[in-house]
Amino acid sequence: MVQLSTSVYLLGGLLGLFLLSPVLMAPTPASMCTALKTLNGSLSNRRRYMKHNFPINYTIRVHFEEVFKLSNINRMRLHVEGLEELVLQRLWFQVNRGVLKKIIRVMPKRHPSRQYTTELERRFRDAEGVFVQSHPAEVFQQELPESIQDTWDHLTEEPSRVPESSWRSAPPKSLLDNLCHTMHCLFSECFASTETKQDYCVSHWKRDLRPRS
Ligand SMILES: *[C@@H]1O[C@H](CO)[C@@H](O)[C@H](O)[C@H]1NC(C)=O
Ligand SMILES: *[C@@H]1O[C@H](CO)[C@@H](O)[C@H](O)[C@H]1NC(C)=O
Repeated sequence: MVQLSTSVYLLGGLLGLFLLSPVLMAPTPASMCTALKTLNGSLSNRRRYMKHNFPINYTIRVHFEEVFKLSNINRMRLHVEGLEELVLQRLWFQVNRGVLKKIIRVMPKRHPSRQYTTELERRFRDAEGVFVQSHPAEVFQQELPESIQDTWDHLTEEPSRVPESSWRSAPPKSLLDNLCHTMHCLFSECFASTETKQDYCVSHWKRDLRPRS
């Protein structure tokens, strides 16, 4: 019995490797970068639309996992064994889809930032569509590392079942800052410039460590 399950496990592992290896090798496709750069272009206006059009210190309620920063990515990379970039990228889409939905939800139809935000969401969904299409369907059914699966489950939990302690208040601008910084980190091939070999995950990470004034 033990032996059977071990061999099934091994077979599953090998099959997983076999299915995954071409994906792991594949660089981010050009169409994906085009979509993300378009999104990056929209994000350059985020201060104007996410700060100036909202009351001072305005915050929205999000899952604590939706405060998804470079420090979270770096921590996961350190502590989650066998964590693949693709899993982090999937998580990035999952988190930020929810974030954008929550920002839009607080804005009345005639809010001056509504059009900007729905456009931003449309571009985000375009990028997600390209992302999904550029990988074989199997990778999206692949089992996630346990801690990532836990995060995923929390994010998709029915809001009424989320305990009070799991909510955070965050300014919309800072949520979009996170979206932008983590995008540069997780899709760095699309944003790397040849002259300044900048590591987007590290440079912002250092800045995060500076004491806040
Ligand atoms: C991303 O947007 C910033 C402005 O927010 C711009 O400086 C940068 O060049 C853009 N990067 C790419 C690759 O389009
Ligand atoms: C906004 O927050 C800052 C820092 O927490 C505080 O000093 C300031 O009084 C707040 N402003 C308003 C208008 O509530």
